Amino acid sequence: MTTTTLRYLLCVFSMLTIAGCAVKSDVKVIKLGHALDVNHSVHKAMVFLAEKVEEKSNGKMRIDVYPNGQLGSERELLELLQIGSIGMTKASAAVLESFMPSMAVVNLPYVFHSKDHYRKVLGGEIGRELLTSGEEFWMRGMCFYDAGSRSFYSKDKPIMKPEDLQGLKVRVQSSASAIQMVRLLGGSATPIPFGELYTALQQGVVDAAENNPPSLYLTRHYEVCRYYSLNEHTFVPDVMLVSTHTWNDLNDEQKKWLSEASYESAVHQRTLWEESEKEALDAMIADGVHVEYPEKGPFIEKVKPMLDAFANTEYRKKLLERIEAVDESSQTKN
Ligand code: GCU
Repeated sequence: MTTTTLRYLLCVFSMLTIAGCAVKSDVKVIKLGHALDVNHSVHKAMVFLAEKVEEKSNGKMRIDVYPNGQLGSERELLELLQIGSIGMTKASAAVLESFMPSMAVVNLPYVFHSKDHYRKVLGGEIGRELLTSGEEFWMRGMCFYDAGSRSFYSKDKPIMKPEDLQGLKVRVQSSASAIQMVRLLGGSATPIPFGELYTALQQGVVDAAENNPPSLYLTRHYEVCRYYSLNEHTFVPDVMLVSTHTWNDLNDEQKKWLSEASYESAVHQRTLWEESEKEALDAMIADGVHVEYPEKGPFIEKVKPMLDAFANTEYRKKLLERIEAVDESSQTKN
């Protein structure tokens, strides 16, 4: 290589480096990690959020989405969020409750009477209060994503009444509420990360689990668990969060882009959710999964002590009353 060629290459290299740096410092990039499959409506909503941010900011702000737990489990991602190693994550409120204690209320079994009631509560004043309650724990809720209702699925027999859970090892999320609920219903609660559950079911580490239809379908757990009993014990939402380290670093304009894009993605996800819930149930029924509709009364009765124990302060008692008083028939906002 001649000296002239070498000088030319060095020159091009330094120009590229400068250009790269300029682009890099001009664009605000936020890393978003989560543990769901790329076909899940919540993942699609996060991609939509990223597109909206890019559009609103004219490319000056970007969200890079890392799905499938490639950066860690939900718990690990929340820890990374707290120290600012990632800027955003999506967590189930069940896992979130040990980081943001106020979230525990939405994980109480049968605290919502219907899908409309759940949506109305989270879309209103109570939902807004819950989202911002994480700031003292270095996380700020941006929006809720719909995760429908959770019900039991099992390997050997359907769960038609709480007694059917006796002697069964039931996988639960890493959540004190979920553990307590399964215990009160008579099962043996076993916390296992979502990504490890297929193998755990297959190898008999657990006999049953519980989730919403799209998650059961997309993880293919239904290949192992052929009974799905729609007792709808909880409506546990997914929550989009931003690290306060990242949030406090944004200027007002960037905060506005992110807030608007989050809201729009939540509205969009609701439509996707409806479609995916129906598709998942239809596909599992077509595959021969036994979908059952047990009577809810006996389940509600067994978990009642949990709601009574929750109302142990004036604030919590009032909160349950406020939830109860939300009119589910009025129009839902996000
Ligand atoms: C749902 C929820 C996830 C959660 C999973 C679980 O799929 O959307 O966020 O990880 O349940 O049971 O762990």
